[in-house]
Amino acid sequence: MSPLRLGIVGAGFVAHFHTRAIQQMRGFTIDGVTALQRAPALSKVITDNGLGEGTVYPSISEMAGHVDAVAIFAPNYVRVEMVEELVDAVKKGAPLKGVILEKPLARNLREARRVVELIESAGLRSAYYENQIFMKPLQAQRAQLAPQQRSMGPLSLVRSAEEHSGPHEAWFWDPTRQGGGVLSDMGCHSIAAAWYALTPLGKPVDFLQPVSVMADCALLKWGQPKWRAKLLAERGVDYAKTPAEDFATGIVTFRNPETGQLVKGQFTNSWMFEKQGLRLLMDGMGPGYAFEVNTLQSTLNIFIGDAAAEAAADAELALEKSTASRGLLAVQYNEADLYGYTDENIDAAAAFAAEKDGMLPVRYGLEIAKLVMAAYMAAEKKKTIDLTDPAVQQELETYVPLIQQGRGAEVLCA
Ligand SMILES: NC(=O)c1ccc[n+]([C@@H]2O[C@H](COP(=O)([O-])OP(=O)(O)OC[C@H]3O[C@@H](n4cnc5c(N)ncnc54)[C@H](O)[C@@H]3O)[C@@H](O)[C@H]2O)c1
Repeated sequence: MSPLRLGIVGAGFVAHFHTRAIQQMRGFTIDGVTALQRAPALSKVITDNGLGEGTVYPSISEMAGHVDAVAIFAPNYVRVEMVEELVDAVKKGAPLKGVILEKPLARNLREARRVVELIESAGLRSAYYENQIFMKPLQAQRAQLAPQQRSMGPLSLVRSAEEHSGPHEAWFWDPTRQGGGVLSDMGCHSIAAAWYALTPLGKPVDFLQPVSVMADCALLKWGQPKWRAKLLAERGVDYAKTPAEDFATGIVTFRNPETGQLVKGQFTNSWMFEKQGLRLLMDGMGPGYAFEVNTLQSTLNIFIGDAAAEAAADAELALEKSTASRGLLAVQYNEADLYGYTDENIDAAAAFAAEKDGMLPVRYGLEIAKLVMAAYMAAEKKKTIDLTDPAVQQELETYVPLIQQGRGAEVLCA
């Protein structure tokens, strides 16, 4: 079967990650790129590596008629308008098979619902990209521990964390454009990974029913005067006026609808992680068995002494969000594969070719958006959010966290 022609919207950090992932699979060629900035550079990577035509288009609508699927890898604050433009092109005749949306689906539930309704109104197949669910270590532990799960029962506790020293672009730090701080940016990953790891084998990804959420958000590092000044100077974002959380943690409780058993997913996320670089840490407890994933443990370590440190100008060659360029350093030489980008692209390409949704359609992304909103609400109200209460469900539909409104100073103290 010939590969699907993919058109990419956005040519920044994650678009480059996906390009490295698509290099490792069949199923997509990258035939189009459109972005406000950096599209020619991404196009050159695509053509240099023989990944497709990489034609640069001036807009989504102009690209839509020349590709089979479109992947939106652009900032959160333009998500709704981009989906509107894409759906408009489809309704005018662009013969698209599917659309891919990076996490988070949107900044809040109202926006997320609009995105889902637009995509469904156009009859488009979808894949919400939550890469961590596709991580080979997470998938391998499920396969390896399948006999234990069958004989002993499923996991009852999963702890899932993603932490690094802070994002690479200014818009991520601005809570009004990004949607919040680290909970909006990375809580969506850790909540999804925990929900998935807890899900019994053979059950759909939304089988376990979320019943309650408790959470705490704090500004532990980037609100301190020295770090606040650095943020203002380097990113143009003033955390004295519009702060966002750089630490978030909480627990989502899920109910197994067949057995009634309650299980827990604990998430922790920070932009104040003072170790080598990005760390994904997940562990799960079942009755008599367990697993642990730690992406800072690599089969490759390198050592760079002080005398040679000047030679290591680009620390991020070793690890995403690296903070050190000397000493003993862990190297992940295939991060695109390790973090699940390769396998999520394989899944989407195969699904769209078969005229199906990916393993995680946009409706799943909407459920994750709801859990993230419930976590903000729990932290804001300092109480556990009961998701079985219809009034709470109603409130979540239009809820916009104070932090996202730019009023974080009312709930975060530095
Ligand atoms: N799965 C992950 O782990 C992961 C990692 C990073 C980012 N992301 C997600 O991917 C998305 C993009 O993040 P990023 O880090 O690549 O951002 P980025 O800032 O590095 O790149 C954004 C790209 O979008 C383009 N863009 C911005 N506004 C545009 C507009 N109106 N029209 C056309 N192009 C526009 C920019 O010019 C740039 O090329 C975000 O939703 C983010 O949450 C996911």
